[in-house]
Amino acid sequence: MGFSLKEKGRPAIDPETCIGCGQCVAICPDEVLSLDGGKAAAGQGEFLGCIACGHCTAVCPTGAIAVSGRGMTPEDRVELPPPGSRATADQLEALLIARRSIRHFTSQDVPCEVLDRIVRMASTAPMGIPPHEVGVVVFPGPRQVQQFCEESCASFARAARFLNPVVLAVMRPMIGRAKYEAFRDFICPLLKMLPEARRQGRDLFTYHAPAALLFHVGPMGDPADCAIVATYAMLAAESLGLGSCMLGTATALTQDKPLKSKYGIPPENKVGVALILGYPAAEFRHALRRRLASVKYVQCPQVDALGESGPFGAK
Ligand SMILES: Cc1cc2nc3c(=O)[nH]c(=O)nc-3n(C[C@H](O)[C@H](O)[C@H](O)COP(=O)(O)O)c2cc1C
Repeated sequence: MGFSLKEKGRPAIDPETCIGCGQCVAICPDEVLSLDGGKAAAGQGEFLGCIACGHCTAVCPTGAIAVSGRGMTPEDRVELPPPGSRATADQLEALLIARRSIRHFTSQDVPCEVLDRIVRMASTAPMGIPPHEVGVVVFPGPRQVQQFCEESCASFARAARFLNPVVLAVMRPMIGRAKYEAFRDFICPLLKMLPEARRQGRDLFTYHAPAALLFHVGPMGDPADCAIVATYAMLAAESLGLGSCMLGTATALTQDKPLKSKYGIPPENKVGVALILGYPAAEFRHALRRRLASVKYVQCPQVDALGESGPFGAK
C-alpha cells in the first residue's frame, strides 16, 4: 500500500515467444504497447503510463509478457479456471438472490482457512487504479470480534460527545443541509445508541458474530474501493455457506488514530466498512424481490415498445 502514481508498471516482452499478434497492443488502456518490427514493444503511454493492470499479460496467447512494479510481479500470472468451471449467470443469480444480511449466527467458529479463502476471493475485486489500496484487518474469532466491538463502542461514544449540537451547527455550512440532518437525526443518535446498548449487554454493532473483517483504504484509493472489496467478500462468504452483514458505522473509526494504529491501519487511511461473518442461525425460505430507485433506458426502441409494462422484468 501507499503507492505513488509516479511509479510505473514495467511490461517485459520476451521477443523469443512474442508472435506479434498485437492483442496486447489493442487491449492496453493507455497505449503503452506498440508493435515494432513485428514484436510487441513497451513505451511511455498516453496519460498515466503502465498502471500494471496486467491486461497485456492476461491476453497474451504465448505468455510472452510479464509486468513488474506497482505491486505486481511476473509470478502473479496464474492459470484461469477452465470455462466450464465458472459460475453461470443462473448460478450467480441464485447466489445473489439468496443472500441476506445476517445478524444472527450459530456459535460455530469460522475456520481460518475459510477466512483466508474469503480474503483471497475478495482480493480479485477491481480497484480505482491498481494496485489495491484496500487493506483488511481480520478478527478471526468471537473473542477478537468482541474486543473490536468494545473498543469501537468506546470510540463511538467519544465521537458522539464531540459531535454535540454546537459542533454540528458550526459544521453545517461546510457539510450542507442534507449531511447535517443525516448527522443530527441518524449518525449521532446511532453513535450514542450502540455504546448504550453494549452497556446493557446487547451487541447491536457486531451482533455477537464469530468473525469480522475491517476494510480500510489508502489516500490514493477510490472511496468506493472498500465497499467493492467488501461486496466481493460478502459473495465469497455466501458461496462458502456463511452469512455476513456490512457495518457502515465502522467508518466513524476513521478519526480514531490510536485505534487504527492498534490494528495496524496507517493513520492516513480511511476506514471503509466492516463485514461480520458466521454460520447463519436462521434459514431463509424465500427470496425478496428488490428494485433500484430508478431504471431508465435511453433511446431503446425495444423498451419504448413495451410502454409502461416495464423493461424485461427489471421494473
Ligand atoms: C454500505 C452498507 C452499510 C451497512 N451498515 C449496516 C450497519 O451498520 N448495521 C447493520 O445492521 N446493517 C448494515 N447494513 C446492512 C443493511 O441494513 C442491509 O443490507 C439491509 O437491511 C438489506 O438487507 P439484505 O442485505 O438482507 O437485503 C449495511 C449495508 C450496506 C450495504
